[in-house]
Amino acid sequence: MHETHGLTGSKSEQYAQLLQQARGLLSGERDRIANAANLSALVYHALPSLNWVGFYFFDGNELVVGPFQGKPACVRIALGRGVCGTAAVTRQTQRIADVDAFPDHIPCDGASRSELVVPLFRGDVLIGVFDLDSPETDRFDADDQRGLEEIARIWLEASA
Ligand code: SME
Repeated sequence: MHETHGLTGSKSEQYAQLLQQARGLLSGERDRIANAANLSALVYHALPSLNWVGFYFFDGNELVVGPFQGKPACVRIALGRGVCGTAAVTRQTQRIADVDAFPDHIPCDGASRSELVVPLFRGDVLIGVFDLDSPETDRFDADDQRGLEEIARIWLEASA
């Protein structure tokens, strides 16, 4: 049974602990749904001020919601639409300090004020995106981006 332990110390120490927990949680398991579900739960409960953490998977046509923690979300997002579809098309992490200022933001939970979306690619192949929402404006800084991109990489490497 895996346990989530509280994170302590500086922000970089806390991310180091979270990454270690993520590696432990996914170790020995290749199932992408199982790993996405457990990783969403780990991050949602470990980091403060989040109201949605989860995955969208590319089905060959659009992004379809996968395992997540938070309120029910929009099921399908076209490539190029919203923060998620923008991350998928640009292949760049989208760190949005104020979702109301992002012209094409797709509101799922009305409480969301800022958002971070990490694109998931295996080589040139789009797998999906890892999406985090916060009820706080400007919740995610460059350290969060680095830490959560590393979390996404751990998921990509662990999962088939
Ligand atoms: N806000 C996202 C949609 C997904 S939800 O936040 C869970 C977007 O604009 O793509």
